Amino acid sequence: MQVSRGLEDVIIKTTSLTFIDGEKGILRYRGYDINDLMNASYEEVIYLMLYGDLPSRGELEEVKSIINESYDVPESVINVIFSLGRSCDPIGMMETAFGALASVYNPAWDKERDKETALKIIAKASTVTCNVMRAKEGLKPKVPEPSESYAKSFLRSSLDKEPDELEVKAMDNSLVLYTDHEVPASTTAGLVTASTLSDMYSCVTAALAALKGPLHGGAAEGAFNQFVDIGSPEKVEEWFSRKMEEKKRIMGFGHRVYKTYDPRAKIFKRLAESLSSRKPEAKTYFKIASKLDEVGEKHLSEKKLFPNTDFYSGILFYSMGFPVYMFTPIFALSRTLGWTSHFIEYVEEQHRLIRPRAAYVGAEKREFVPLEKRS
Ligand code: CMC
Repeated sequence: MQVSRGLEDVIIKTTSLTFIDGEKGILRYRGYDINDLMNASYEEVIYLMLYGDLPSRGELEEVKSIINESYDVPESVINVIFSLGRSCDPIGMMETAFGALASVYNPAWDKERDKETALKIIAKASTVTCNVMRAKEGLKPKVPEPSESYAKSFLRSSLDKEPDELEVKAMDNSLVLYTDHEVPASTTAGLVTASTLSDMYSCVTAALAALKGPLHGGAAEGAFNQFVDIGSPEKVEEWFSRKMEEKKRIMGFGHRVYKTYDPRAKIFKRLAESLSSRKPEAKTYFKIASKLDEVGEKHLSEKKLFPNTDFYSGILFYSMGFPVYMFTPIFALSRTLGWTSHFIEYVEEQHRLIRPRAAYVGAEKREFVPLEKRS
């Protein structure tokens, strides 16, 4: 029996959602290039992913109004988040909140209602994410208030300040950039859960658990901490050589699918450059990252290792005023759209219980010896 370690190149579903060409560095959602989608709002992309096409004005307003009416979460769920303590892991807090939401709502799969359930989950994800930050910062709970955009409502409720146009646009773009990436570990974990016909909130909880790891969603935090650790652009080369000698991985580099520069990283680089110029430390981190990008490319490109989406995104979020621990929650917030779109596509169009096999390589049949007779 052939074991595919890490399920590399195993096709677990067909999809009309996301196309990736890892050799050429192309990413498209439903046929639209990620660069072109920087001109679309996150709400337009929500409609695109869930309903298949870009929305008309009327369709967009309808989606916005469902989201705006769905930010509320039961008080018990807010209490769960705030009871966890300020030192708790933020994705663990999101998992707990989504687990609690699953126990309250527990929606059955229903073709007529699944997309609306996804819209409600996307709205509540904003409430959960901003309250995870508020709980950790010792602030009072808040429900995002409807505004011109989902991105703006999230920024306002998380940071307790009025974001400017550039910040709103950068957050909107970030949400689009992190929306979906076919079937990485988190989406796959959620799909396994969806295949049992567990409810959509539980599927998001499973996806969050997989996203938490440093090899997946935790990489933006890991990448940013490297820039802090390096301290100045002049120290990059020496730091890099030391890491290579120690056989350490460079966080924010490498990808299972991209064997070239991740197209999202190019866009995040531009966004991070523009917002980091407003904050001296962020500007320094951007310079360090650019130098590490250059040095890394020189030494790692022969192994086809290039910056991935998490390399520059942390600098952008830091420039907006987010603490480092919020980088993965923001990734999760955005990816909730990709996750729910994949769950719906799988359950509605190609459902079958996911139940792989393991090749047994353990002991042959052995005689059982009762405890009192074992030496
Ligand atoms: N720095 C240095 N060497 C690396 C790195 C890295 N970041 N990533 C892979 N390699 C080397 C690895 O040591 C191995 O070398 P060798 O063949 O000599 O043993 C070779 O490249 C292949 O590594 P692999 O672990 O088999 O590759 P993979 O496809 O299983 O891993 C990855 C993909 C993303 C887990 C890995 O590149 C990595 O650990 N990167 C750092 C963490 C990171 O940035 N993760 C974010 C991924 S993108 C966002 C997301 O999808 O969540």
